[in-house]
Amino acid sequence: MGVFDSGVGGLTVLHECLVTLPHEDFLYLGDHARLPYGPRPLDEVRRFAREIGAFLEAQGVKLVVAACNTATSAALPQLQEELAVPVVGVITPEAHAAVQATRNRRVGLLATEATVEAGRYAELVRTLDAGVEVFSVACPRLVPLIESDDPFTAETTEAVREYAMPLKAAGVDTVILGCTHYPLVRPIFQRVFGRDVTLVFSAEETAREVAETLARKGFENDASRQGGYRFLTTGDPDVFRTMGARFLQLPIPAVERIELAELTAAA
Ligand code: DGL
Repeated sequence: MGVFDSGVGGLTVLHECLVTLPHEDFLYLGDHARLPYGPRPLDEVRRFAREIGAFLEAQGVKLVVAACNTATSAALPQLQEELAVPVVGVITPEAHAAVQATRNRRVGLLATEATVEAGRYAELVRTLDAGVEVFSVACPRLVPLIESDDPFTAETTEAVREYAMPLKAAGVDTVILGCTHYPLVRPIFQRVFGRDVTLVFSAEETAREVAETLARKGFENDASRQGGYRFLTTGDPDVFRTMGARFLQLPIPAVERIELAELTAAA
């Protein structure tokens, strides 16, 4: 399976996929040379996602996971139209989980600027339950803080507090953490929101969706085999390996560099 993100955030999704589907093979691509996607125009992110989708398909993967909320927001329908393999994004599973979890039908969303601007969470939540209200807050400071050497700082806590404030004021009982980077600082979110607020993360929900898709289509590998995983980055492989281990919480043996020109050529 092919899994991609702008950086190492999608490794939180890969982690869940690896523990849910240990018999499957995974190829992960982090587009570090063009990170962050969040502040970019949706058209540009759509172009990046289409290049990566075409590249992964050409590598022979049987399913593509867009493990990036920004790329999913910008390009999921286009990827699904253009690729022959199924494409799973991170937004539908989270929207579904949030609608199921909320009791007061007030749901918060924390995500990148592009994800908030695209408005896909609100659309999907509305399709599932038109009585649920979504309150969205863009969090531009979080991805750079989480990709830094030490994400567990007072500065990260301050940023989370600031972004949480309007959601607390709106009285939400469920918050979608709509960026694959955010699970890395999960305890900070949980402490700021308190135990009474349900936090919805893309990683678990998406791994469940991937497993169900494979099972229903009859695409699964033999459960007795041991799967493997490989990594590609458009950035620095050493930086990826060091930072990636934190997000994946599993060994990262080797990381190969891929040139942007190869991705552009695939599209
Ligand atoms: N991890 C990506 C997401 O889920 C965004 C990070 C970025 O801004 O590149 O939205």
